[in-house]
Amino acid sequence: MKENKATGIFFTLFLCYTCMKLILCFPNFQSSLQSLNLQGHFTFENNEFASIDFGNQFHYLPSAVLYPKNVSDIASTIRHVWNLGPASGLTVAARGHGHSFQGQAQAAQGIVVNMESLSGQQMQVHMGEYPYVDVSGGELWINVLKECLKYGVAPKSWTDYLHLSVGGTLSNAGISGQAFRHGPQISNVRQLQVVTGKGEVVICSEEKNADLFHGVLGGLGQFGIITRARISLEPAPKMVKWIRVVYSDFSTFAKDQEYLISSKNTFDYIEGLVMINKTNLVNYWRSSFNPEDPVQASQFVSDGKTLFCLELTKNFDPHLQQDDIIANNIDKEIKSLLSQLSYIPSTLFVTEVSYVEFLDRVHAAELKLRSKGLWDLPHPWLNLLVPKSKIQTFAQNVFGHILTNTNHGPVLVYPVNKSKWDNRTSFVTPDEDIFYLVAFLQHAVPSTTENDGLQYLLNLNKRILEYCEEANLGVKQYLPYYTTKEEWRAHFGTRWEVFVQRKLAYDPLAILAPGQRIFQKAISVL
Ligand SMILES: Cc1cc2nc3c(=O)[nH]c(=O)nc-3n(C[C@H](O)[C@H](O)[C@H](O)COP(=O)(O)OP(=O)(O)OC[C@H]3O[C@@H](n4cnc5c(N)ncnc54)[C@H](O)[C@@H]3O)c2cc1C
Ligand SMILES: *[C@@H]1O[C@H](CO)[C@@H](O)[C@H](O)[C@H]1NC(C)=O
Ligand SMILES: *[C@@H]1O[C@H](CO)[C@@H](O)[C@H](O)[C@H]1NC(C)=O
Ligand SMILES: *[C@@H]1O[C@H](CO)[C@@H](O)[C@H](O)[C@H]1NC(C)=O
Ligand SMILES: *[C@@H]1O[C@H](CO)[C@@H](O)[C@H](O)[C@H]1NC(C)=O
Repeated sequence: MKENKATGIFFTLFLCYTCMKLILCFPNFQSSLQSLNLQGHFTFENNEFASIDFGNQFHYLPSAVLYPKNVSDIASTIRHVWNLGPASGLTVAARGHGHSFQGQAQAAQGIVVNMESLSGQQMQVHMGEYPYVDVSGGELWINVLKECLKYGVAPKSWTDYLHLSVGGTLSNAGISGQAFRHGPQISNVRQLQVVTGKGEVVICSEEKNADLFHGVLGGLGQFGIITRARISLEPAPKMVKWIRVVYSDFSTFAKDQEYLISSKNTFDYIEGLVMINKTNLVNYWRSSFNPEDPVQASQFVSDGKTLFCLELTKNFDPHLQQDDIIANNIDKEIKSLLSQLSYIPSTLFVTEVSYVEFLDRVHAAELKLRSKGLWDLPHPWLNLLVPKSKIQTFAQNVFGHILTNTNHGPVLVYPVNKSKWDNRTSFVTPDEDIFYLVAFLQHAVPSTTENDGLQYLLNLNKRILEYCEEANLGVKQYLPYYTTKEEWRAHFGTRWEVFVQRKLAYDPLAILAPGQRIFQKAISVL
C-alpha cells in the first residue's frame, strides 16, 4: 500500500514535470527538427503506433517520429540531438517492426526512427563462392528471403517468425532451429553500416572498426543504429520434410536433442516443445498442422500429462525427387537418423512443405489468430538460456512443478553449441559449451477467471526467474528485461566493463535505445 502511494506521488510529479517540459519546449523542439535538411520527414501527431509493441504492456509516446529516406536523415537527426547536449533529455529509438515485449523500441518524449521507411532501398544479392546480400536495417526478413530466392540463395540462420526487422533481430541475436549448426543470425553477418550516438556513419566488419561491429551485434541498440547489413547466404533449399515425434520423458528427449546437434550427419533444423496438461489447440500457433485432423491434433493434447515434442526438418530437392533412387534415399536417410532416437514410435508424424512455407510458418498461424482477435493481446514472453548441466533440474522444477499447463502458448526447449557464437559480440551466453533456449511464449486472454490473465502469467514468470536465482543455475535471459543497473551488471557479468566502455565510445550521452533501460541520458553512463 505504502509503496503504491509513493509510486503514485512520484508519477504525479513526473507527469507535471513532463507536461511543463512539453509546454515549454515543444514548439521550439518541433521547429528545430523541421529545420533539418532531410529527404524524409517528421510527424508530431498520430504517433501512437510508436508506443505499441508486441508485448502490449508498455506504452510510451514519443514527441516525434522520423520517417528516414536515407542514412543521412538518421545521422542528421542524431547529430542534432547530440548537439543539444545532455540537458535536453532527448533520446532516439530505432523501431524495426516493433515486436519487442517491454517497450524496448519506444522513446518516451523522444524521437522514434521508423526503420521500415528505409527498407525501400534496394537489396543487392552478390553471387560467387561466398554469396551475400546487402539489405537495409529496416528490411523485414521475409522480404530478404523472397529477394534472395530469385537468385536461388537464402540466409542460413533464422528466427521462427520472419516479420521482424534485420536491425531488430541483429540487436538481439536471432535464434532458431538452425543455430546449432550455423550459429545465431549475429554469427552470419559480414559487415554493417551503423549510425553511432554521435551521428557518425561508420562501416564496420571483422577487419574494420571491429569493436563497433562486435558491439552492435547483440548490442540491444546501445551503440548505433544499423542502417545496412551484409548477410551471408547459401544455396536455397527447395523443399523440407517436416517431422515431429513425441517423448514422455524429459531426459530421453534432451539426450536425443543433444545427440542430434552434435552429430555430423543430422537434420537441418532442430527444436522442441513442452506440452503440460494441454487441452487447447487454438493456442498452438507454431505449426501449420491441421487441427481438424485427429491424428495430428492428438499429438498436441496432453491432458493431465507432460509430453515433449521434438521438431525436425530435412531439406531436399523436388527435381531430384523425380529420380526414384534419390527420393528413396531422402526417406532412407531420415529413417536411419530417426532409428537412432528413442521417441514413442506411434507418434511419428512427417509432412512435406516448401522451404518458404516452412520458414514463414508462424505467419500462417498469425493470420488465423488475427481473424479470431487473438494476436493483439498482451504477450508476457520469457526467454531463458539454461546451461546443459542444469537443464534436468530446471525441467524437473519448472515443467514438473511451477508450470501446471501450457495452454497459454508454446514453450520451446532446444540446445545449441556455444562454439557457434562469437564471444566478442555483446551477446552473453551461459558459461558452458552447450546451453538450451527455453522460451515461454504466452499470451494473456482477457478473461474473468484468475489463472490466465496477464497478472497470473507475469507472476508465473517471476516465480520461474526466482527459482533460477535461488537454485543458482547460471541462467541468462535472452531478449533481457531488467529494471535495475545491478541486474544489468549481473546479466553481463565479466562482460559489463566492455559493454560500458563501448557505450562511452559510441553513445556517451546515452541517446540511443532508451527503452532497454540500461543507461539513462543526462546521468553518467557509469
Ligand atoms: C512472433 C514473434 C516470434 C519471435 N521469434 C523469435 C525467434 O524465433 N528467435 C529470436 O531470436 N527472436 C524471436 N523473436 C524476438 C525478436 O527477435 C525480437 O523481439 C526483435 O527485437 C524483434 O525485431 P523488431 O524488428 O520488431 O525489433 P524492435 O522491437 O523494433 O526493436 C528491438 C530493439 O532493437 C532496437 N533496434 C531496432 N532496429 C534497430 C536497428 N536498425 N539498429 C539498431 N537497433 C535497432 C530497438 O531500439 C529496440 O531496442 C520473436 C518475436 C515475435 C514477436
Ligand atoms: C541522402 O539525402 C541527402 C539529401 O538529399 C543527400 O544530400 C545525400 O547525399 C543522401 N545520402 C546518401 C548516403 O544517399
Ligand atoms: C560443440 O562444437 C565444438 C566445435 O565444433 C565441438 O568440438 C564440440 O564437440 C561440440 N560439442 C558438442 C557437445 O557437440
Ligand atoms: C494438470 O492440471 C490439474 C488441474 O489443474 C492439476 O491438478 C495437475 O497437477 C496437472 N498435471 C500436471 C502434469 O501438471
Ligand atoms: C573468447 O573465446 C576465445 C576462444 O575460445 C578465448 O580464447 C577467449 O578468452 C574468450 N574471450 C572472452 C572475452 O571470453
